[in-house]
Amino acid sequence: MAVIADRCPDIQVTVVDLNAERIAAWNDADLSRLPVYEPGLDAVVGRARGRNLHFTTEVDAAIAAADMVFLSVNTPTKTRGVGAGQASDLRWIEASARQVAAASQGHTIVVEKSTLPVRTAEAVKAILGGAQGGGGKTFSVLSNPEFLAEGTAITDLENPDRVLIGGEAAEAIDALASVYGHWVPQERILRTNLWSSELSKLTANAFLAQRISSINSIAALCEATGADVREVARAIGTDSRIGPKFLQAGPGFGGSCFQKDILNLVYLCRHYGLEEAASYWESVVGLNTWQQQRIARLVVNSLFGTVSGKRLAVLGFAFKADTNDTREAPAIRICRDLIEEGAQLAIVDPKVEAAQIARDLERSPVAADAAAGSRPIGADGSWLAAGSPLEAARGADAVLILTEWRDYRQLDWGAIAAVMRRPAWLFDARAVADTAAARAAGLNVWTVGEG
Ligand code: UGA
Repeated sequence: MAVIADRCPDIQVTVVDLNAERIAAWNDADLSRLPVYEPGLDAVVGRARGRNLHFTTEVDAAIAAADMVFLSVNTPTKTRGVGAGQASDLRWIEASARQVAAASQGHTIVVEKSTLPVRTAEAVKAILGGAQGGGGKTFSVLSNPEFLAEGTAITDLENPDRVLIGGEAAEAIDALASVYGHWVPQERILRTNLWSSELSKLTANAFLAQRISSINSIAALCEATGADVREVARAIGTDSRIGPKFLQAGPGFGGSCFQKDILNLVYLCRHYGLEEAASYWESVVGLNTWQQQRIARLVVNSLFGTVSGKRLAVLGFAFKADTNDTREAPAIRICRDLIEEGAQLAIVDPKVEAAQIARDLERSPVAADAAAGSRPIGADGSWLAAGSPLEAARGADAVLILTEWRDYRQLDWGAIAAVMRRPAWLFDARAVADTAAARAAGLNVWTVGEG
């Protein structure tokens, strides 16, 4: 919405949320304190806020004034009931649709922006239909899924491969297309029916995630055979039918989208009796879990079969670089597995706060890193938040790189090796470290996908 406001000064954009604290944070005069860390976002918000971009908790008033309402609420995986663990929980979509039905005036175009299971628009239409006609209200429902990736959100939005608009009413589709038309060329604005649009979003994420599971499966084979997965990725990626992107082997995909959307697809396939299609897509998630477990096991095996009581430095906790988001981050499972094995972790991430790591690991850290290495971490403390990679490495037997932060490409391996206990290891699950320098500093090095 910030980018729409930035690119369309003639359109008033009002972002509403029930959460007053969050709205206050979006209105914070200090742009470095916005609730989401995303490169370039502060500048965009700085330009548009107060001009034609507004953040408020006055939900009903904003709906009443709007010609177009974007439903952008979260749709987490259900944790209970039918479809638990796979289907999306649509309670916030339903609540939002009901609120729009009640508060809107005149004709309102309702745009599904949240990623939704196929045929959700039907439910939204049914809810809005109940209000239709009352006080002259009418509605059109569109599906307009978002394809931006975190960390590159602003550039993805400013220069999208495509914008997808699914709907029935041509005037409504034209109205939304004219919003994007302020900066997106018409040929990149794709128009489909509602169900194709909803299904395209799930399918795009499933295909992207599938590429990662595919390359991670080959990474394991490379490690076993002496091949190098980066050479394989380059060799296959030059085939224009395969393409070079999304072939980076790693600790498995994380983020709020891939796993959730594939599980949604799995649920839908099962719902329609397509068991083979369901298990095909399910295996993409299965391989991802295996990759994370494999890395944790490999660390334990390398360290003479036990990490009990050993200090391990974990560099990177976010699910990818340039974000403070940890949802489904591979670091979570890998750290939990290592803690389960008795390891004491010193975790550092340039953007993730210790409190977030604590929530993800469901454990409190020990208070401080006092004299790390010279005495054991407190009895109840399975991890602590370190202030820098060097501090994390102090007294550690191994360093694990789990997020590809730029800084980790330029670490001073001489200095790090000097504070570690010997023999010492580097496990680079993102293939970003200067491994020649690490080896020269006396570390044993494992890089994902390197035989
Ligand atoms: C993903 C899609 O890329 C977006 O197109 C989509 O709009 C978004 O989900 C969404 O549904 O909202 P995102 O999850 O933000 O975006 O981030 P990605 O860049 O796709 O990365 C996902 C995970 O895959 C990360 O953990 C990343 O490290 C991993 N990854 C990515 C790899 O391990 N290897 C690669 O080659 C690429």
